[in-house]
Formats: sequence, C-alpha cells, structure tokens
Amino acid sequence: MKSSLLTSYDRDQSYQWNYDHVPERSDAAIPRVAGDWQFCGHPVGSPLGIPAGPLLNGRWCIYYASLGFDVLTYKTVRSGQRDCYAMPNLQPVRCGQLNGKQEHVAPVDTMQGTWAVAFGMPSSAPEVWRRDIEWTRDELADAKVLCVSVVGTMQEGWGIHELAADYAKCAQWAIESGADCIETNFSCPNVNTCDGQLYLDEQQSAIVSEAVKSAIGSCPLIIKVGHFMDTQKIPPFLSAVNQYADAVSMTNSIACKVGTGKSRMMFDSQPRGICGRGIRDASIGQVGEFSKSIRDLESRMQIIGLGGIETATDVKNYLKAGATSCQIASHAMVDPGCGIRIRRELATEKQ
Ligand SMILES: Cc1cc2nc3c(=O)[nH]c(=O)nc-3n(C[C@H](O)[C@H](O)[C@H](O)COP(=O)(O)O)c2cc1C
Repeated sequence: MKSSLLTSYDRDQSYQWNYDHVPERSDAAIPRVAGDWQFCGHPVGSPLGIPAGPLLNGRWCIYYASLGFDVLTYKTVRSGQRDCYAMPNLQPVRCGQLNGKQEHVAPVDTMQGTWAVAFGMPSSAPEVWRRDIEWTRDELADAKVLCVSVVGTMQEGWGIHELAADYAKCAQWAIESGADCIETNFSCPNVNTCDGQLYLDEQQSAIVSEAVKSAIGSCPLIIKVGHFMDTQKIPPFLSAVNQYADAVSMTNSIACKVGTGKSRMMFDSQPRGICGRGIRDASIGQVGEFSKSIRDLESRMQIIGLGGIETATDVKNYLKAGATSCQIASHAMVDPGCGIRIRRELATEKQ
C-alpha cells in the first residue's frame, strides 16, 4: 500500500474538524517484527507506538493500531473541558537540529519535517473521554496497549497538592475506563502556567507522582518530560520519582519562539513546542543521559524514546541510546504508513 493514499490529520482544518473526521481503519498487512518486545510489562509486537497528540479520540487510536502501532497513547485529557487554541495549531518551521539555545525558528509554508505545535492541550469533558476510553479498550485487540495521557489543570488559589489531586483524579478515571497505563504530562511549553514545566522541579514532580501512583495502584505510571537544558538536573529528578514511576518518556518538544525577527514573531512572541525532525539529536542525547543516570541509580525505570523518528535507523539509534520503546507523532501524521514501512525494515534486517 502506498503511504500517500492514507489519510491523516489535516492541519488546514480545525481541531474539532479533525476530531470528527477520522479515517476508516486500514486493512493493510502488518509485517511481524522479530524480538521480545514489551511496554511497561505488557508484551507487544514491536517497539513502536504513538505518543500523546495525534490520537484525538478512540477512533484515531483504532486507525493507528491498524497501521502497525502497538502502543496507542490517548491524547492528554483534563478534569474539565478545555478548548483548543486558535489556528494555526501546526506551523511548519525551517531549522536544523535544535538544542534549546536558539532564539527563534523561521515559519515556512510547507512541512519540511519540523513544526511548532500549538494546541494548548484541549480536552473533551470527562464524561465524554471516559466513555470514549471504555469504547476504545473494548475495540482494540488485546495485544495492543492503551495508554492515557493526563494533565492537571491549575486553578486560582491552588498549590501543588491540589494540582496533584487533579492529576490523580484524571488518572483514576482513565483506569476505571480501562486504560492499561497512565502517562502524566509534566511538560507542555504551550501552556504558560506553572503546570507547564513541572519536570524541572523535582520536589513538585515527586508530589504529583506520589498522588497519581496512589490513585492507580499497580497500573504502570509513565512520566513525560521535556528537554533538560541542564543535564545535572536529571539525577535528582530521577531519584525523586524513582519509587513511583515505571517509565519516563522523552522528549516532549523543545520550546522556541517562531518568527523571523522582533517585529515578525508569531504566537504573541511566546515560545511553542517544536516537534519533529529538528529535535531528534537532542532527544537521543537526552535518552543517553537518562539511561546512564538510571543505571547509576540501579533503577528499573524504562525509557520511551521519541522526537523526530522517521526511519528504522532512528528507532535503532533510540534503542541503542537506552530506550526500550519508541513513539512517533509528527512523522506518523505526515506519513501514516511509516509504522508499516519501519516494521518492514526492522523485519528484513539481519538479527
Ligand atoms: C499534533 C500534536 C499534538 C500533541 N499533543 C500533545 C499532548 O496533548 N500531550 C503531550 O504530552 N504531548 C503532545 N505532543 C507531543 C508529542 O507527544 C511528542 O512528544 C512530540 O511531538 C515529539 O515527537 P515527534 O517528534 O515524533 O513529533 C503533541 C505533538 C503533536 C505533533
């Protein structure tokens, strides 16, 4: 099957339009990948998954499951309904490999592998997503893993303990609806409140992780983090969350302003999360740093690697750096057939 025939998210349409217009599941043949793969204790058919983002609802999860992805992460949900930011939500940019020190990146008209992501973590109302997750788990094959990404929503007058309870409430609801794993999003550079960069504060990260873990019991907990500019902060972060988390997922994105100069900045000159090809090298580097620190800590935490994956070689580079699973967002939106292609490449390779 030609990848170009497969439908995907249409960035010229609104979030709601894409929520409502989901492609039919594919009947493409899925190549087998040799090896004993597992995701947070669940046996799976490959190291491939889709992270939080492209799967706006259950029907999107079913669609990508039919395209050879074994771990499906339901897009981040909240304890209350939240609208999407105004368009553009996906702004292609031109850049090389980013390291977090770039002042800004230039917008371009066509996708060249990297884009700025500006959705603001919208969420349907809990009664809607809870019902939908239940439906999704029933529809998905047993061999597929359904992970649900959750985030707390800071309210005026709240402190970290109230925020932690809000995260935990979403996590508990997701488990009750049938989620196999919970992912807590500790990083979202599009949201300019203190819940946006939780991963940079190890004490607050521990408070939220403890609250979520006590709500979900034996269900695996994954913590999603952003880019660490200061790698010295990785060991204290890991020590703080080690007793609660089964895995860490990285890298969410690299925050950067979008524009061509002072007078021509988009998004009110606020940084947005840059995702896709331009964050690949920094993300593989960070997986390597985490892997070293996890070994030093003698921890059993696993690493889910993501950021700029497009090919089987990228997957292998993440695995070599210490990841046990890999996830693809941007490229799977541009080329929904990439999972099948990567599986074929992994399958035909000499073992
Ligand atoms: C359209 C889109 C929406 C996203 N929404 C979320 C989200 O709701 N929660 C989250 O944790 N990450 C979100 N992300 C970030 C991705 O999960 C992933 O970390 C990032 O895109 C890097 O992977 P990539 O380079 O393969 O795109 C989103 C990414 C994209 C492209």
